Amino acid sequence: MKTYRAAVIGVSRMGAFIDNEMVGYPGTVPPYSHAASYTTYNRTELVACADLRPEIMAVFGQQYHVPPERQYTDYREMINKEQPDIVSVATQPEQRAEIVIYAANHGVKAIYAEKPLAASMAEADAMVEAVERNHVVFNMGTNRRWGQAYDKIKEIMDSGQIGTIKTLIVYSTGAIFDTASHHFDTLNRLNDDQPVKWVQANIPTGDTAIDGDFMRQDPQGEGIIKYANGVTAYALLTPRSTEYEVIGDKGSITAFNDAYHLQLRQDTTLVPGTRWNGFVTVEAPTVPPDSSGLNLVNDLIHALDTGAATRGGIRVARASIELTFAFIESHMRGGARVDLPLQGSKMKLQRNRAPRQPKFTA
Ligand SMILES: NC(=O)c1ccc[n+]([C@@H]2O[C@H](COP(=O)([O-])OP(=O)(O)OC[C@H]3O[C@@H](n4cnc5c(N)ncnc54)[C@H](O)[C@@H]3O)[C@@H](O)[C@H]2O)c1
Repeated sequence: MKTYRAAVIGVSRMGAFIDNEMVGYPGTVPPYSHAASYTTYNRTELVACADLRPEIMAVFGQQYHVPPERQYTDYREMINKEQPDIVSVATQPEQRAEIVIYAANHGVKAIYAEKPLAASMAEADAMVEAVERNHVVFNMGTNRRWGQAYDKIKEIMDSGQIGTIKTLIVYSTGAIFDTASHHFDTLNRLNDDQPVKWVQANIPTGDTAIDGDFMRQDPQGEGIIKYANGVTAYALLTPRSTEYEVIGDKGSITAFNDAYHLQLRQDTTLVPGTRWNGFVTVEAPTVPPDSSGLNLVNDLIHALDTGAATRGGIRVARASIELTFAFIESHMRGGARVDLPLQGSKMKLQRNRAPRQPKFTA
């Protein structure tokens, strides 16, 4: 079977070294970073990298066996010379669109882009156009979409054990670009990627982050997402980190600690012999931790091999960034309902932030 040649653009934390920050994290097993996923996966070969910081690439090269002549400070030169099959774009979102569009237009067959997708809706739309016109296989790094614990939640939802789904909750929406990109994608996925009808949102520190048409920071947000199929999602800001709840008319699933602990409750009409009215706990389903990074790469390879769609894709990635910009729009209109598809968003994320220092050892 064919081995695919992969290259990583942006070799800092998520691109290469975040595995050192995740040692002992109970819900996942390595690999997590893009580079570690390509070197672990048996049908990808990590052949090259690009970053603006040669000193970071030097360490990357040693750890991942990418020689200096295959370390590029210009990603265009890297793509043109190395002609990789797969390119990862693990920069910050401000740089993502330009790189993804260049890769799509210059022969790259598959792209694994980090979240959030883009810094503006205009960029997101240009990315959709380039990826679709060039028939590029695409996944965005919203890892929970490829995590087996979240598959388990979906399996229970789809089995009918909690009845018709009414409500989704994420307990800590977090920063609307960086963190909410994960949560919006998970909410969308749990709701079968149904279209959103409207959102209403509040960004507590939004007024200091918004500077005309620019977002100068990535502030936290909270809000309501109404889906066209009637499901309502509540994106809360509470101290309960990455936790979710799915509530149906016959039961609920609570995902504690990033779905490491699950709890299934069912209506007493389904659980005879109890004196409570309403839901009672019936099960704590368990799922062994897995590597969402490997699952995501495997999904790309399957799509390259067979022409099948990936579990994510560029339209799914666009849907979550559209929610971020719809939250901003709603906040700017005093929390008014904003209908989707979002029209006329001119807002652009433009932070003046230096890249982070990756952790080179565990
Ligand atoms: N999926 C996850 O769980 C997860 C976890 C952490 C970070 N992330 C995402 O990954 C992305 C990167 O995060 P990070 O913390 O590693 O960022 P970082 O700021 O540490 O690193 C970004 C890297 O991109 C490089 N870069 C910038 N412009 C470039 C260009 N034009 N060409 C080549 N390289 C360029 C920088 O030099 C830097 O090394 C972010 O979008 C973040 O949200 C995802």
